[in-house]
Amino acid sequence: MKIQSLEDLLVETLRDLYHAENQIIKALPKMAKATSSDQLRAAFEEHLEQTRGQVERLDQAFEHLNLKARGKKCEAIEGLIEEGKELMEEDIDEQVLDAGLIMAAQKVEHYEIATYGCARTFAQLLGHRKVAELLQATLDEEKETDEKLTQLAESMENVEAAQAG
Ligand SMILES: [Fe+2]
Repeated sequence: MKIQSLEDLLVETLRDLYHAENQIIKALPKMAKATSSDQLRAAFEEHLEQTRGQVERLDQAFEHLNLKARGKKCEAIEGLIEEGKELMEEDIDEQVLDAGLIMAAQKVEHYEIATYGCARTFAQLLGHRKVAELLQATLDEEKETDEKLTQLAESMENVEAAQAG
């Protein structure tokens, strides 16, 4: 599809997000399995449930625009997920792995926050009020998840100190 208007850009962005969320649904269970932290596992599992709801919101957004819901390969998310996968294949200390998993997840959240934020603004500018509301609801969840991940990183025990002791 050739992007000529802001409307086209919005639709392409929704397709990008649709693909991204579906990739995240596949990646989160693997991340939950890889961590040895109950808290981090719970956070990944909770976000998996949230992500399923986010896909539903995208379905509704497509419906409002009278479009069939479909994704378009999002290279950025695939790259970020690949990075996380490589990390999980490393033979590393479990706490270092957790730190890396938090970073991988936050990179994904930041991509989503930027993309949902722009899509929400485009929808507002184009007068698609309902679509803007749906995107805002997901944006709020992504921001909350990002904050929770920061808290989890900050509450991690000092790995270096633990290893030295
Ligand atoms: Fe998401």
